[in-house]
Amino acid sequence: MTENITPADTTTPTTTDGLLRGRFAEATDQFVEQFTASVGFDRRLYQEDIAGSIAHARMLEKISVLSKEECSSIVNGLNDILAEITSGKFDWRVELEDVHMNIEHQLIERIGDTGKKLHTGRSRNDQIATDIRLYLRKAIDQLTTEGEKLLGSLATLALEHSATLMPGFTHLQTAQPITFGHHLMAWHAMLERDLERLADCRKRTNRLPLGAAALAGTPYQPDRQYLAEILGFDDVCSNSLDAVSDRDFAIEFCAVAALTLTHLSRWCEELVLWSSQQFSFISMPDRFCTGSSIMPQKKNPDVPELIRGKSGRTNGNLFALLTLMKSQPLAYNKDNQEDKEPLFDSVDTLQDCLTALNGLIPNIVADEEQMRQSALAGFTTATDLADYLVRKNIPFRDAHELVGAAVQRAVELGSPLEALSLQQLNGADSGPITEDVYAILTLEGSVSARDHLGGTAPSQVKLQASAALERLQRSL
Ligand code: ARG
Repeated sequence: MTENITPADTTTPTTTDGLLRGRFAEATDQFVEQFTASVGFDRRLYQEDIAGSIAHARMLEKISVLSKEECSSIVNGLNDILAEITSGKFDWRVELEDVHMNIEHQLIERIGDTGKKLHTGRSRNDQIATDIRLYLRKAIDQLTTEGEKLLGSLATLALEHSATLMPGFTHLQTAQPITFGHHLMAWHAMLERDLERLADCRKRTNRLPLGAAALAGTPYQPDRQYLAEILGFDDVCSNSLDAVSDRDFAIEFCAVAALTLTHLSRWCEELVLWSSQQFSFISMPDRFCTGSSIMPQKKNPDVPELIRGKSGRTNGNLFALLTLMKSQPLAYNKDNQEDKEPLFDSVDTLQDCLTALNGLIPNIVADEEQMRQSALAGFTTATDLADYLVRKNIPFRDAHELVGAAVQRAVELGSPLEALSLQQLNGADSGPITEDVYAILTLEGSVSARDHLGGTAPSQVKLQASAALERLQRSL
């Protein structure tokens, strides 16, 4: 991020003009200048900074601190600067420390003394707090759009595979047959909660700090409701000390991002397993895979592996922000300058991972026959046999024992349960197991029997996936 930034000029003496050094007897140490500067990363906030400044100028006009002409000169100047930055021609200067000072300095260069009035009744403390909130609000909205797209892909794929059979696992050991659609809808449920958390975080993000000034408020009687209205904030931060020091909203966001990446990482672990030779449940399009530099036959699932790995970053960013805030006395401290890089990184990482999965998920191809064969192995319908015995009035624990013995015989014979004779299943010439057992020992019988809210039956998956698609339609 440091390209396009003019480093401090060491050959000419530094003037104090615009550098807030009126009370100092010497220029800033060169290293300190670099060390304390944030323009390398906070210039990313230029749109928000300019929007905040324009709102502030309009508010100052409303409370008669600026004349109409002064306000429009400032607003025009800021809009020109916005265009210049957008076109990539703006000369960012390290000695001007941050995005705020760079833009304000440029405004004064362009419009003269009127530009010096913009900072009336404002501090960089409430300015940066406002900028980050505006930035994060926009980021949350973009992430929500991307996340909803993914929810749609999952529900659509789940509908398509509402009756596709696969083994379900516990302890990564084959457990019971499930439908692939049901598994996809489990992912859907995880992500849907993540997006709920994101929406909740947005509520606390969307409050206005501006007007808090450095920490105590300002004697100009700022019209903060008016500022909130212009900038689209739902509410105004109610305490000026808290307004400039609060970064809870950023911590919350990083927590949401970390948890979402934890979920995505779990899905990706499954994608990696399922696409392996050993499982061969799915294949991913070649354009999402990479080759090996030495083994010509390899098709590596780099994209899901990377997403799995990136959860480390988002966890780290959350931890960085929590640690940054711990022990800070009220109100603003320079420590807070360190909030931006972790926050930006969590936003970018989550955005990239959602984009990658939006490309990948709709294009995974299930090998239905292979999934079915895998579900047939491992006595996945043993629980169904126990449930069958319960229906014949055998207490579940006794049924569990009887079925355990039947599985033992099946292992010895090297045969699946449904291939055993009634005599073999009962372990005696006659017993509670009769001819009707064979219908429930099939994979289809097993999944269809779980036909209740939250169960794996194809009819339930269809219901859940269609309801999810309707919810999505309503939210758009
Ligand atoms: N660059 C600073 C930050 O990111 C802006 C606020 C500076 N305020 C101050 N009093 N030095 O937090």
